[in-house]
Amino acid sequence: MYGDEVLQGTAAPVRVIDAAAAKLARDMLDTMRAGKGIGLAAPQVGLAKRLFVVQIAGDVPRVFFNAKIVQQSEETAKYEEGCMSLPGIYADVVRPAAVRVHAWNEKGRAFTLDAEGLLARVIQHELDHLHGLMFIDHLPQPKRKRILKVWEEKFRA
Ligand code: NI
Repeated sequence: MYGDEVLQGTAAPVRVIDAAAAKLARDMLDTMRAGKGIGLAAPQVGLAKRLFVVQIAGDVPRVFFNAKIVQQSEETAKYEEGCMSLPGIYADVVRPAAVRVHAWNEKGRAFTLDAEGLLARVIQHELDHLHGLMFIDHLPQPKRKRILKVWEEKFRA
């Protein structure tokens, strides 16, 4: 949840992508689906590791170890984001419309993916979690404060 220490830190690279790492990725996909999310980063489940998983409607599940954005479009897009670590809160966030990401999958194979639309959006959102950033950190300070106040009052269980 928002405010947890591990969500505010920088995640460490995963040095060895072995069976245990692959199982962790599968477990995270299960957790993500159970929460009806389309992306989940390791710090959200308390692990400071450079790992996130994504599955958007109509697409295959995707696992990203040690992901890095190697190229991004100058064109930006605005889209309403939410986060499993900040339930009940949604806000428009502006980000590059397309990204090229380099990462390793659950089999330890390196890949490069060109993503646009919702996939590009989720990848950038999840990657932020590995750097201690939440989507509300992209909002102007007054709006961010307002949103956090609402969350504290209404949604924080
Ligand atoms: Ni999130």
